[in-house]
Amino acid sequence: MPRVNRTVVLSLLIVSSSVFLLFQLYYYRKYVSKPGPHILSQTGHLTASDVQWQTLRKFLALAQRFRLPLFLADTVSLTLLSEDALRQRDRLVREPHCTFLCTGRPITSFTLHANLWKYDPGFLLAAEQKGFQVLQVRGDDPRLASLDILSGQDIPLHFLLRLQDYIIQVVFLYERSGNYLWFGALRLKGDMDRSFAPFTQLDFGRHAGALNRQELVLTVLDGLDVRIPRNITRFLYEQRHARFLECRYRDARNFLQLYPDDSSSAALDFRRKVKSLLHLAAQTLAQLDVPFWLSSGTCLGWFRQCSIISYSRDVDIGIFVVDFRPDIISAFRNAGLTLKHKFGKVEDSLELSFLRDDIKLDIFFFYEDRDIVWNGGTQAKSGRKFKYVFPRFSLCWAELLDLKVRVPCDTLDYVTANYGSTWSVPVRSWDWKSSPSNVQENGVWPAAEWEELIQVY
Ligand SMILES: *[C@@H]1O[C@H](CO)[C@@H](O)[C@H](O)[C@H]1NC(C)=O
Repeated sequence: MPRVNRTVVLSLLIVSSSVFLLFQLYYYRKYVSKPGPHILSQTGHLTASDVQWQTLRKFLALAQRFRLPLFLADTVSLTLLSEDALRQRDRLVREPHCTFLCTGRPITSFTLHANLWKYDPGFLLAAEQKGFQVLQVRGDDPRLASLDILSGQDIPLHFLLRLQDYIIQVVFLYERSGNYLWFGALRLKGDMDRSFAPFTQLDFGRHAGALNRQELVLTVLDGLDVRIPRNITRFLYEQRHARFLECRYRDARNFLQLYPDDSSSAALDFRRKVKSLLHLAAQTLAQLDVPFWLSSGTCLGWFRQCSIISYSRDVDIGIFVVDFRPDIISAFRNAGLTLKHKFGKVEDSLELSFLRDDIKLDIFFFYEDRDIVWNGGTQAKSGRKFKYVFPRFSLCWAELLDLKVRVPCDTLDYVTANYGSTWSVPVRSWDWKSSPSNVQENGVWPAAEWEELIQVY
């Protein structure tokens, strides 16, 4: 008899503790693990951030159901999350239940890695069923555009989902051949609702852009599962400098109809060597974290013919002198290039020239001076100095020979400054001392300094 009793008591104990455990689990899930409206609604009404949080939760649940490869790309949320902000902790107690996602802006932006998602129209239908209003912005697929074909195919570029005056922007990122992710500009077509969203406040879409692939981490923000870039500082920097310029294929085709490209084997060989030199230069400077852009004839080639000019015998790049580092020379030597000459000094008219595979790489250093930017030239035999003056410019991404490179954003102004208004007419005989429209005489180096300032190898 006592034996039976013990078994019964033990079973009862197990059952009752299991029930209690289940209750705890239920209680935890329902009331503790979900911050936000569940707690706040006890006061009877929802605040604006509760509504935003609920909108985001609804959207993220849908995104998970349709397996959207998303990450949070919202510049305000990510800034709040960045280490700088986390250090100033007092800022974070503002809205304890929705600290990062409720930013005071009626927008949250995400990016979608389009190559990892098989487009499913069911997603937008399901969003509509959940009460979202949906705006889909499409545009030409630039991956198909080239000198041979002008793309006609249209792809999704942005989704905008609106619920209770909150906007969720989903930016499609497409892989491009230069090994980067591209997104399109957000352009409304004639019949689209211009009041659908506060378009000027969006983080993405004013221009097309290029980003590097980001390493992502899954995290819980304000009780919601989201993926974010691992290095937020880097992502925010890239986002600010993402603007991308597509080559003007239509104009380039017209140019090449007037002036057909040289397709001799020598010209093809030259192009192959230039491509390899440009890739090597980009890689070397990326390792040093030195930004560069296409300059002179190389820039003209991209702008005018989406290619390189086969009779120009060199590759020209520009670097702001503030980005100069003494180890640039050794880095290029280690990459297999020979230093051919070094003219000028860091304070004035610095210019480096390297050689590889009988192609010359000219690196011009640019000086900012009030509303102009200039670079220098030196004639080795006479010590004469020249100055090439450009209007100020910022840098944009572009693609040349399957490489992501920078060009001055106002490329037309840059090219016009350098080559005059007739830049679209090929000129085969070019004198760097007299032909450029923007060349100025700039005195002579003192003879005593020649040895230091005019080094020819
Ligand atoms: C994040 O990126 C920045 C800028 O590229 C870099 O300076 C920093 O070291 C990176 N941080 C980490 C933890 O990798």
